[in-house]
Amino acid sequence: MIWFDILCHPVWAVSTALLAFVVRLQRRGSWDPQACTVQLKGKTAVVTGANTGIGKFIALDFARRGARVILACRSEARGTAALKEIREKTGNSDVHLRLVDLSSLDSVREFAKGFLEEEKALHILVNNAGVSGLPRQITKDGLDASFATNHLGPFLLTSLLLDLMKRSAPSRIVTVSSVNHRKGEVDFSHFHGENLSYFMDKIYNNTKLHNVICTNELARRLQGTGVTANSVHPGIVMTEVMRHYPLIVRCLFNFIGFFFFKSPEEGAVSPIYCAVAEETEGITGKYFDCDCSLVLPAPLARDTALAVKDFEICERLTSKL
Ligand SMILES: NC(=O)c1ccc[n+]([C@@H]2O[C@H](COP(=O)([O-])OP(=O)(O)OC[C@H]3O[C@@H](n4cnc5c(N)ncnc54)[C@H](OP(=O)(O)O)[C@@H]3O)[C@@H](O)[C@H]2O)c1
Repeated sequence: MIWFDILCHPVWAVSTALLAFVVRLQRRGSWDPQACTVQLKGKTAVVTGANTGIGKFIALDFARRGARVILACRSEARGTAALKEIREKTGNSDVHLRLVDLSSLDSVREFAKGFLEEEKALHILVNNAGVSGLPRQITKDGLDASFATNHLGPFLLTSLLLDLMKRSAPSRIVTVSSVNHRKGEVDFSHFHGENLSYFMDKIYNNTKLHNVICTNELARRLQGTGVTANSVHPGIVMTEVMRHYPLIVRCLFNFIGFFFFKSPEEGAVSPIYCAVAEETEGITGKYFDCDCSLVLPAPLARDTALAVKDFEICERLTSKL
């Protein structure tokens, strides 16, 4: 009861509302996609995980700018609902759904095969899809499901689409990582689900660190090709990302998030900035924060020798030998 009294106390309520207002102003960042006049007519973009959350708002923005947008989603029903919504809201009928399950290397290969057969160009690839809090699951490729979904599936997808992106240059690869990469660790046995702790977001943090490391290495390998590769933190965003966590954790996230976290639309701003803004043209191998500023990633993500090794291991794990 005492907690109820505290929560209902006017001083507490007013100060919380004020704090939330300040955080709300601050979390918007400095770049406004609506004020950005860049048009994408004649450009093709792929957004993974575009049926909900941050990915849906990224796809919506690209569609508004006139791009041909491919929603790369794993669920036909959820993908179709998003497709309908995006077409209706933007009036752009050149938005399409292609199914892919990023946790399955075969599914990624099938997606890429179909895409390369039917599409003539690819100017923007946003590796957005991701999961957090998955329990231990080993995929039929022998990989931990979180690593497969968040890192190795997108890694393979990017590799398979790379030649087309080079032919379509200038083109941009944007990988939605997370500030949590700073808490990540690198141990290559993790890819196979070994030596992992499945407590809270520990695995997620590791996968997000590999995102940044491999994006930086990819950028080094792409120097001079006209294809850029950057990673970005979208902010802490009220989406379905907590769906695999216990109810109590989800309730807490949603309660705090209601006041302080970004909306999915706000979370899409920094990825959109990396993908379309004139200011980010030619920038490559960098990590952007949720306010669109360039910041240094974690020290492990700046270790070039580690990046070469990581990249080579991911190539080996995703290649069909
Ligand atoms: N929300 C945050 O606070 C936050 C913070 C930092 C970084 N991020 C990153 O932002 C990105 C987007 O997350 P979100 O917050 O928008 O989460 P979300 O609402 O849960 O959306 C995740 C998307 O990824 C898709 N996805 C999951 N597993 C997939 C698979 N195996 N194959 C294909 N698609 C799959 C989901 O499809 P279904 O709907 O079919 O499951 C959904 O479309 C993620 O990379 C996440 O790590 C989020």
